[in-house]
Amino acid sequence: MLRVDEVPSFKLGTFFLPFLKNIMKDTLFLETVDSTNRVARELGTAGKPHGYAVLAGSQLKGRGRLGKTWQSPPGKGLYSTILLRPKLDVKEYPKITLTAGLALSQVLEEICQLDVALKWPNDIYISGRKCGGILVETSSLQGEADGHFALVGIGVNVNADKDSFSSDLRKSATSLFLESGKEYEILTLFEAFRSRLLQLVFQLAHEGFADILNKWRERDMLQGKWMQWLTPTGEVIFGESLGVDNRGIMSVRDCSGKIYEVLSGDVSLAPQFRGR
Ligand code: BTN
Repeated sequence: MLRVDEVPSFKLGTFFLPFLKNIMKDTLFLETVDSTNRVARELGTAGKPHGYAVLAGSQLKGRGRLGKTWQSPPGKGLYSTILLRPKLDVKEYPKITLTAGLALSQVLEEICQLDVALKWPNDIYISGRKCGGILVETSSLQGEADGHFALVGIGVNVNADKDSFSSDLRKSATSLFLESGKEYEILTLFEAFRSRLLQLVFQLAHEGFADILNKWRERDMLQGKWMQWLTPTGEVIFGESLGVDNRGIMSVRDCSGKIYEVLSGDVSLAPQFRGR
């Protein structure tokens, strides 16, 4: 196992030295891994506790939603998975997805002073381009409730410049560096995110979803907009986004007035509204 100051991708600043012991206790640092979600699943099955995290300098097979890959070049991004064992019924687990998106957007707003928008279920957008994404997976939800866990995998383009993106992403992706002109310490972002996520998951379990949902809605980039939904069967539905309800499910109304609940698939602004 590596110590965090032995992982070159993190370029550790002196600020962290006093806190290192604590951070290391519940984090596995890896220079390169196939996918932090894969490793975190193994560690979750082996019994690691709530809040335990895997943080990697780069990933060889970073996984995105809907079977996509997540480009994870060394030193350019935050690639991490946090293990959660929330005091929540498993039917509430979908709310963790939106809770994680809110936690990440708040942290990026506070540290980078940028306006962050959320695209259902939990893409992070800045100035109309995707800067980060979250992949929430669960353990098998069979068996004893005590054994259940959720994995919150986050990928953020932090210090990437244009050339760090493959040509197919160059138009649609951005990074904190490209948006603010500043480079950020990956470990700072990671610790701030983990701490906010744990705080909001505690709030979700003890006070409910209402306040988290309201704050998520303030950042919803599709609500009231004309959008398209690529359904899991490959059908494309155009309509107005009606936003997210109190179960965390988004609805869309097509031009005939028919309302659909978007349970999975990919949503985006309709092409004529995509801007730059
Ligand atoms: C998406 O927008 O499709 C979600 C992307 C999630 C990527 C992160 S990077 C760290 C973690 N490990 C993975 O394999 N995926 C997530």
